[in-house]
Amino acid sequence: TSFLTTQRFGRNIQYLDEVTSTQSVAHELAREGVHDGTVVIAETQTMGKGRMARPWESTKGKGVWMTVVIRPDVPPSQAPQFTLVAAVAIVNAIKSVCKNFTPTIKWPNDILINGRKCTGILTEMLAEMDRVEALLIGIGINANQQMEDFPPELQTIATSLSIEEQAEINRPQLVAELLNYLELYSNLYIKEGFKPIKALWEESSGTIGKQIKATTLREVIEGKAIGITEEGVLEIQLDNGEIKGVYSADIEIM
Ligand code: BTN
Repeated sequence: TSFLTTQRFGRNIQYLDEVTSTQSVAHELAREGVHDGTVVIAETQTMGKGRMARPWESTKGKGVWMTVVIRPDVPPSQAPQFTLVAAVAIVNAIKSVCKNFTPTIKWPNDILINGRKCTGILTEMLAEMDRVEALLIGIGINANQQMEDFPPELQTIATSLSIEEQAEINRPQLVAELLNYLELYSNLYIKEGFKPIKALWEESSGTIGKQIKATTLREVIEGKAIGITEEGVLEIQLDNGEIKGVYSADIEIM
């Protein structure tokens, strides 16, 4: 791809036609010791994985279905922050390819356009003792689907870049921009910590300042999303003023 300006990310790309999941392929490669920045991309996935064991719809040839293997020298507790690094990278990559809309981030990891999901991120970790061996950053971008390409149950909640831009999306260009930003922001994170990422994330957030309903494994919390912490934890202010931090949840913006 002629638009790639990275040192490491995307310098080794495994480009496959059909896989069960790019996460599984990347997992094997990571176990075999591939370099930081190795990318697995497929035209379609027969068992695409979403968060919380949900399936991920991976229409053949229409999306960007990819996993980036990164090997940062950080403790496992910092893994979730890379999901936020990826989110800001994706938003900026989309913005550089699409001019007719502005994507927003729904905490922690959905990218929305006018309230509909166009991108999901799934971060998985291989850890050894207290070190991260590899992070598998799985990114699914609905690029060129038309509405009828989505199964009926997704047609009210999903969208694609092409539908919103009203133009065909150049997927190789999108992937290159994404890898450029991903390398830029993960370097920034490693060098300067979470602060600059947090600022970028908050700029693109469609969650902060909104009334939300967060469903965690244990409870349902309703309140106003007021910010994210240095750890990427979402802070919600309840009606009684109390502030609760959420590490992992499904968010509904009210
Ligand atoms: C979500 O929003 O639930 C996360 C979706 C992540 C989908 C991507 S597509 C590429 C990679 N391979 C997978 O099986 N899942 C991720």
